[in-house]
Amino acid sequence: MSRFTFFGGKGGVGKTSMSAAFAHKRARAGEDVLLVSTDPAHSTADVFDQSLGDEPTPIDSYETLDAIEIDPEQEVTDHLLETKRALGDQVSAGIVNEIDRQIELAHQTPGAHESALFDRFIELMRDADHDRVVFDTSPTGGTLRLLSLPEYLGSWIERLVEKREASIDLYEKAAIGSREPRRSALGDPILARLRERKERFEFARETLRTESSFVLVANPDALSVRESERAIETLRERSLPVAGVIVNRLTPEPDDDENGRGARFLRQRIETERERVEELRSFEPPILAEIETRVSEVKGSFLDEVAGELDFDATI
Ligand SMILES: Nc1ncnc2c1ncn2[C@@H]1O[C@H](COP(=O)(O)OP(=O)(O)OP(=O)(O)O)[C@@H](O)[C@H]1O
Ligand SMILES: [Mg+2]
Repeated sequence: MSRFTFFGGKGGVGKTSMSAAFAHKRARAGEDVLLVSTDPAHSTADVFDQSLGDEPTPIDSYETLDAIEIDPEQEVTDHLLETKRALGDQVSAGIVNEIDRQIELAHQTPGAHESALFDRFIELMRDADHDRVVFDTSPTGGTLRLLSLPEYLGSWIERLVEKREASIDLYEKAAIGSREPRRSALGDPILARLRERKERFEFARETLRTESSFVLVANPDALSVRESERAIETLRERSLPVAGVIVNRLTPEPDDDENGRGARFLRQRIETERERVEELRSFEPPILAEIETRVSEVKGSFLDEVAGELDFDATI
């Protein structure tokens, strides 16, 4: 069994609904589950009709289901404040202002959200004592950028470590000594911090490849199919295990004896959807489940019903 299950897919396809249904199913089967959402619109809270926060909260009427809603904006702020605090202790007063400026800039940098969120994911993967952690991620583009962070941040940090080592070396050789304390690579706080970051990313990369699985949610329409194709390709390129695709929002069939305008519309619609599902199949991901559109939102009894249809392999 993979301990970490990531649900991804284009905006609005049903990631939150399917990850909640999956978490529901596993929790009802007796697993101790943590459901992690990154949606600032509180949609996981809506599914369970219960407000959630930044720390794992037990979901009412379940014995073994906790959920957490991470606010990406808050995560960036906390992350930067923490960095500022850590660095503030370690550098001379003269460059504190410069650090403040850099940190302000970092807040605006594209990728700041992903980076802060990813840090939080790593923390949860490390510290959660649940049997399984289910991640309801943001729409595909952002998620895949997020998951490729260990690759590029890892090597970026490696270069920073080398630079830091070289600068300490120079500093020692120059032996300025009298005005500032001597520095050495041994016990250098910045170097220690960089190394710690590097270890975190290595842990993430390994855990994502060996203890995780990725479930894509798709709708039977051209845009969603194309996006799924790209996502499958990217995940495979990065050696991240694609468990398969849940096709959500299929149109239910009318009864055979129905021939009115509504029934004809549904049959044509179903024909189009079949073609889209065939396209999806051609990328050769396992199709894990096919879920029909319900008459209203996936919560309450519909959540239970949909969960019953997610009867894929327990190793996922
Ligand atoms: N099979 C279904 N039948 C009926 N309603 C559905 C179904 N799947 C999803 N929905 C509804 O569609 C809406 C969007 O679904 P959901 O929030 O799960 O998508 P999402 O992929 O998480 O969206 P976002 O990208 O915005 O996070 C919700 O109101 C949900 O209840
Ligand atoms: Mg969502």
